[in-house]
Amino acid sequence: MKSKIFVMDHPLIQHKISLLRDKGTGSKEFRELTSEIAMLMCYEATRDLPLKEVEVETPVAVAKTKVLSGRKLAFIPILRAGMGMVDGVTALIPAAKVGHIGLYRDPNTLKPVEYFSKLPTDIAERDVIILDPMLATGGTAVDAVEMIKKNKPKSIKFMCIIAAPEGINALSKVHPDVPIYCAAMDKSLNDHGYIVPGLGDAGDRIFGTK
Ligand code: URA
Repeated sequence: MKSKIFVMDHPLIQHKISLLRDKGTGSKEFRELTSEIAMLMCYEATRDLPLKEVEVETPVAVAKTKVLSGRKLAFIPILRAGMGMVDGVTALIPAAKVGHIGLYRDPNTLKPVEYFSKLPTDIAERDVIILDPMLATGGTAVDAVEMIKKNKPKSIKFMCIIAAPEGINALSKVHPDVPIYCAAMDKSLNDHGYIVPGLGDAGDRIFGTK
């Protein structure tokens, strides 16, 4: 089995990603675009949320209509670039909780080390969407899913803006039950682990640290 892959290539998303890729785009605009793209992607990634019928009195008559049927969500950005996607998704789903996870690979043991983790206490009742703008080698994504799975959420989706084939293959191989939502699939990785053509270091561009 392989993960389901959703490529959200809506014209608005494609347009905004072109602006995001441009090296001349400064931090303020980069942050705004990241947030807007995350919001548009969230709209698609939540297409399967269940609904229930309700009756609402309009000024004219009673309407049989639908509302979300109480499914609880948690967004979990991977530190630090994932933070750039939080405003966009919570603007769309303000009732969602936000957890945070930060990890790195120990260069000696090559084992993942969690340097920060704060997840909602009721995560076992929630559907989780992990946020990271770049799915490059997939190493961090694989480790993050592994760690979040230990807390037994109801389900996990992975949402990134740009994915490399290497990252998709790695995540999908280890966690085939986790669907991957991306907005663009790029060619490859370079020797430094950057996605080509990509957009550079998403964290540095969001936070202006370069
Ligand atoms: N992380 C980034 O921010 N950019 C890449 O190209 C790869 C990983």
